[in-house]
Amino acid sequence: MADDTRPQRTATLTIDGQNFELPIHSPTAGPDVLDIRKLYAQAGVFTYDPGFTSTASCDSTITFIDGDKGELLHRGYPIDQLAGRSHYLEVCYLLLYGELPSSDQLEDFENRVTMHTMLHEQMRNFFSGFRRDAHPMAIMVGVAGAMAAFYHDSTDISDPWQREVASIRLIAKMPTIAAWAYKYSVGQPFVYPRNDLTYAENFLHMCFSVPAAEYHVDPILARAMDRIFTLHADHEQNASTSTVRLASSSGANPFACIAAGIACLWGPAHGGANQACLEMLREIGTPDRIPEYIARAKDKDDPFRLMGFGHRVYKNFDPRAKVMKESADEVLDLLGVENNPLLKTAKELEKQALEDDYFVSKKLFPNVDFYSGIILEAMGFPTAMFTPIFALSRTVGWISQWKEQLSDPQLKIGRPRQLYLGETERDYVDIESR
Ligand code: CMC
Repeated sequence: MADDTRPQRTATLTIDGQNFELPIHSPTAGPDVLDIRKLYAQAGVFTYDPGFTSTASCDSTITFIDGDKGELLHRGYPIDQLAGRSHYLEVCYLLLYGELPSSDQLEDFENRVTMHTMLHEQMRNFFSGFRRDAHPMAIMVGVAGAMAAFYHDSTDISDPWQREVASIRLIAKMPTIAAWAYKYSVGQPFVYPRNDLTYAENFLHMCFSVPAAEYHVDPILARAMDRIFTLHADHEQNASTSTVRLASSSGANPFACIAAGIACLWGPAHGGANQACLEMLREIGTPDRIPEYIARAKDKDDPFRLMGFGHRVYKNFDPRAKVMKESADEVLDLLGVENNPLLKTAKELEKQALEDDYFVSKKLFPNVDFYSGIILEAMGFPTAMFTPIFALSRTVGWISQWKEQLSDPQLKIGRPRQLYLGETERDYVDIESR
């Protein structure tokens, strides 16, 4: 919580000759923050910031991003060190509890997650209620929300034990939900989780094993999968995380809040970008058509954008994209798919965009979704599964931010105001007189 008791620097805002003092909070990293909480009560004005480009919606100790430096820290640890030397479940522990675990703590945490990976058997029925061609994100929104109907012993948000159980359940069950959404869409039987596998191995097993043949999980692919999970684990107050926080501010149960986060992530400007990127590559088809698409992306009168390029916060490079690019190279090497026409088009697009003045001057670099899409395509995931994989990775971030918010004793319902530009009061006119 921002410390209101310390002597503070202030900024002076003058409106029509009257001065108002606004406290300035100094963060441990990042820009200072003007505290406008009392502004409306004192000055009778709102601030205006559509898209929240200059607004800190909360205080947090979980993740820090410096978009100009291309820096991403979880609890202070740089993402490249975590992706290179740690692994997803350890990063989950770090995000949830604030510190790296001891080996005993990690073992205990991994056991707790592993023991919760199965879904209540009755939940299978939910899947068959969907159309065969349902998008797996639609299934994930539905089934994650429906967990509130099954796990009644973890919906009381005022009970720390229930909050903890809900957190573990969500992290443990989301891969099973995503894998079963996939199995359902391809008409294959659901594959149950296996406790002897790691989190990433188990997910690949549930997606690709069939009763006739157990899927052999290659360690390089398991590592790449784990990295995809790790690199998507949390990302500060992005759109879906803010959605989770807003939903939770009303006191909604954790499963409803996470379902709201999944719904927001689905959009192509956010988590849906990895799917949109691959669809764009398919539409481009062959490298000779790239200049045509680059020209369209630059044309102000054409709404087309290069999917997988640009980021709201990273105006230099996305540090996750750097690690993901290395993983993409490793996976492409292993699978020998360098000559896959789609992946060739991706590589050529990356090259041409990085040499183009428009993209360079606007600092529009390939983002994490550009490379994760390439890896997932090479691994054999259908495009529609890309965003569900992002959702299952991000669940721990949503949960960590949700828990942090609930521990704030001054939690208020999120309720933005507006700049109203509509009609002022007018009298109703009966239909015969209009
Ligand atoms: N292709 C072409 N031009 C672009 C692109 C793009 N991908 N992204 C931004 N621009 C241009 C935009 O037209 C604008 O130009 P101008 O200043 O001349 O009007 C300028 O760059 C700034 O764009 P903006 O829309 O103001 O930037 P933003 O910070 O609001 O948008 C973004 C960020 C990620 C929504 C946007 O870059 C975009 O739509 N990218 C494609 C979708 C994508 O890959 N999203 C995944 C983001 S990473 C995963 C995640 O965190 O969810």
